[in-house]
Amino acid sequence: MERRYLANYNMNSCESKSFDAVIIGAGIAGLYTALMLSKNLRVAVLSKKDLYDCDSYLAQGGIAASIQNDDRQLHIKDTINAGCYVNDLEAVNVLVNESEKAINDLVRLGVEFDKNSQGNFYRSFEGNHSIPRILHVNGDSTGKAIMEVLVNQAKNASNIEIIPNIFALDIVDNKNKCCGIMTFYKNKFVYLKSKCCVIASGGIGQLFSKTTNVDVLTGDGIAMAIRAKVTLEDMEYIQFHPTALYSKNNEEKMFLISEAVRGEGAVLKNKCGNRFMKEYDSRMELAPRDIVARAISDQMQKTDSKYVYLDATMYEKNFLKNRFNKIYSECEDNGIEIYKDYIPVTPAEHYFMGGIKVDLFGRASMENLYAVGECACTGVHGANRLASNSLMEALVFGKRAAEDILNKVKVIDEDNFEDSVFIPQCKENHMDFSKLKENLKILMENNLGIVRKIDNIKSALKVVDEVLLKIQYINFKSIEQVEVYNMYEVARSIIMATLESKTSIGSNYIEDYSKDNVVLR
Ligand code: SIN
Repeated sequence: MERRYLANYNMNSCESKSFDAVIIGAGIAGLYTALMLSKNLRVAVLSKKDLYDCDSYLAQGGIAASIQNDDRQLHIKDTINAGCYVNDLEAVNVLVNESEKAINDLVRLGVEFDKNSQGNFYRSFEGNHSIPRILHVNGDSTGKAIMEVLVNQAKNASNIEIIPNIFALDIVDNKNKCCGIMTFYKNKFVYLKSKCCVIASGGIGQLFSKTTNVDVLTGDGIAMAIRAKVTLEDMEYIQFHPTALYSKNNEEKMFLISEAVRGEGAVLKNKCGNRFMKEYDSRMELAPRDIVARAISDQMQKTDSKYVYLDATMYEKNFLKNRFNKIYSECEDNGIEIYKDYIPVTPAEHYFMGGIKVDLFGRASMENLYAVGECACTGVHGANRLASNSLMEALVFGKRAAEDILNKVKVIDEDNFEDSVFIPQCKENHMDFSKLKENLKILMENNLGIVRKIDNIKSALKVVDEVLLKIQYINFKSIEQVEVYNMYEVARSIIMATLESKTSIGSNYIEDYSKDNVVLR
């Protein structure tokens, strides 16, 4: 594949600004990385829309942390068991061993984790965790609480410039060295020249019809990396959360019913009211997510239903209201009283385990380029992420990336960079991009979802290739059109990785391969 760009940027004449580090994405990964950088560095944090328009803000479950030494081996074991033993072991060790420090850092910054009556951290269960080790804030509002602290800290840091409503278009590089980011801001191209750049652009949920991800998550950071020929990894591993709130309306983003609800003891029942998980896994509702999502999907098919039920009626109203305030009120708004009614739930795309391949310091394959958070692939999650490991991954590897950047900026001489020259051919644009977006979401949902089949994946590739041929090097008329193009680029990489995968494992469940499936857990 050749190096590609979205447009013919005039590098010499467009507006530009210089930084030491430009961070694309203002979720927990991006903000925390910015805060871990020295106050002497000039840092820009870019947000595609408003500051709180990100998945981090929605995170309910919490943060998995080994805050006792004797839990570390068990946390490692649970992580690789959920990940089907294809995780990067070194990265998992780093995650677990540095998790306590990350919690202490958050506490220092002002995050107040929930505590029990003895004044110790309240620790919850989620799927495939051997012991309760998930910390949370304000019950099911963990992400919101952490984001508020980080945003506040970043706004008060004189070296950090937060720029909302800016769209990152392309990585700018010179002989495989990242020199900055081309952006679209206030209706014009603006070049952000930078010694180091960090992609923290989050997930890819909008590639699917059913997702818990916010509408901005169209895989832009990963698409930029694809165009710049940056190495990707594990693109076939996409996690479907078993329990998104079912709604008749086709919504851009579905409301999540946290796994912590099952962690507290809620059970799954099919349309006929029968508890079914025992047919699939001895860990029942707390089996790894890929197993629970597949079981639900199977039950939905067998009972010809668009949902199954989550039954939390064994709990008192007050307990549910306090422990899951957000879920309680969202369900109430939908006419469901969770202390007496079953909650209709369905699996939905939730988390991307693959992404931009990075090492233990968040370094991507291009010099001076980093990736952190969901768009990065550290290898921690393997083929299926252990619940609530992702916020911890963002913190631990965000801090490591920041430390590496600190060392690097001292020796980079900004003047060495030359402006790159781009010469794409621009074609006329008569395409209906809204239709293309809708088609892609259905295509990915039907063919690259919870259960995959070789022939379906191949026909999806054909469709995506045909569209890409038409829209590559087109004159894009809006950011929305660029997003759709990005979605197709990322979809192609997912499809190719799935076709090239040699085995059906974890979240990459290929039915036709199942006889060769390596059952490792
Ligand atoms: C949840 O609360 O179930 C989501 C947490 C996560 O995805 O790790």
